[in-house]
Amino acid sequence: MDKNTLSITDNRTGAQYVVPIFTGTYPRYGAAINAQALRQIKVSEDDFGLMSYDPGFTNTACCKSAITFIDGDRGILRYRGFPIEELAGRCTFLETAFLILHGELPAPAQLQEWHRQIKSHALLHENTKKLMDGFHHDAHPMGMLVSTVAALSTFYPDAKNLHDPVARRLQTYRLVGKMPTIAAYAYRHSMGLPYVYPDEDLSYTGNFIRMMFKRTEVGYKPDPVFERALDVLFVLHADHEQNCSTNAMRSVGSSHADPYVALAAAAAALYGPLHGGANEQVLRMLHEIGSKDKVSDYIKRVKAKEVRLMGFGHRVYKNYDPRARIIKQVADEVFGVTGRNPLLDIALELERIALADDYFIKHKLYPNVDFYSGIIYQAMRFPVEMFPVLFAIPRTIGWLAQWDEMLKDPEQKIARPQQVYVGADCRKTAESAAV
Ligand code: ACO
Repeated sequence: MDKNTLSITDNRTGAQYVVPIFTGTYPRYGAAINAQALRQIKVSEDDFGLMSYDPGFTNTACCKSAITFIDGDRGILRYRGFPIEELAGRCTFLETAFLILHGELPAPAQLQEWHRQIKSHALLHENTKKLMDGFHHDAHPMGMLVSTVAALSTFYPDAKNLHDPVARRLQTYRLVGKMPTIAAYAYRHSMGLPYVYPDEDLSYTGNFIRMMFKRTEVGYKPDPVFERALDVLFVLHADHEQNCSTNAMRSVGSSHADPYVALAAAAAALYGPLHGGANEQVLRMLHEIGSKDKVSDYIKRVKAKEVRLMGFGHRVYKNYDPRARIIKQVADEVFGVTGRNPLLDIALELERIALADDYFIKHKLYPNVDFYSGIIYQAMRFPVEMFPVLFAIPRTIGWLAQWDEMLKDPEQKIARPQQVYVGADCRKTAESAAV
């Protein structure tokens, strides 16, 4: 018998089935059976067939993807085969973004054209500004970002042309180009500051920092340490395979909705405190703890399950999050300029106690990417509300690459999970029962 198969005996009927097993690049990591193969397993002809039950998709592959590889047990993250450590050390965010989308690092001429396209799409239609002006002064910037990205759909009706690769690429340039501008405008709206138009002479992150923080200085120059730190943070956040927001992008995109509304859905998923909202929650938690000597009490509350230790734990990393290590180095560089953020001492103490504690060891809970990113962002003067927005900007390329891959994949269909119905059997209203 072919070894790459699974034999199943249905004890309800005694029937036996042989189901093929297929693998991806690494047979050790990513062997699967096709869930449809289970549907032949029936107790009678009119039986629907067996399904698998998997709330939160903890063990269900929804696609074959060639973009990002994660080995959570070994703490490995690679984009298109390149280790995250190498990309963060050697490549800019825009080079990494090109790689994620195209599968190869850009040649110099390709990179120049990629920069030109992204920068030329950084401006927003003036009506978009009017739309953003309509938000209340204390609107959360992530709510503004989600709504504004969705509204872009009305500005670009050509985005519905999903099956034209040239049109798809144009929407990619637009979205990657405009996200920092939307993000900065959302911040400046909340501060009552005038909007700053993009400057294409600056790098992607340098321009973003300028749009955020420029006041009345004529020759505003972003701090090169901040510019590089943000660039590295953007590299680390660019893609992370099939997480909650990427799944939202693919799921909404699978109905052939345009990329603006699909990306708005992805950003909405990212907004949640269990996902991209976590770094905001980490900062709130560190403020709540207040000082190093209160850390032990807080850990007791975590173990009593009163609260969660935000920035700890991950669905796939059960050893360590490789991004967290790189972020710690970035933190040192940023604090070299800004001075040490006092919250860092609380964070380090939390990490020290948690990593030595049985509860955290047993539950395989380690710091994730969000544990330190918030402290760095705060030191760079980004307000806490902007943290999930700072995640959404670089993740845009990941969402778009995954969306592009999905549309080109002939095996993909509209996302439509099954359910196991546990509600009432067929019943009658009181009126019809009385008849
Ligand atoms: N603090 C305390 N206990 C935790 C934590 C935590 N941060 N995370 C998980 N646990 C415990 C749970 O209480 C549960 O314990 P039990 O088995 O004794 O009941 C066990 O670990 C498993 O927890 P799940 O929620 O089932 O784990 P899951 O893999 O579904 O969750 C998640 C992963 C959502 C990231 C979780 O670890 C969490 O809530 N972390 C805090 C939020 C956070 O930092 N999110 C950012 C993730 S990274 C990102 O999105 C970029």
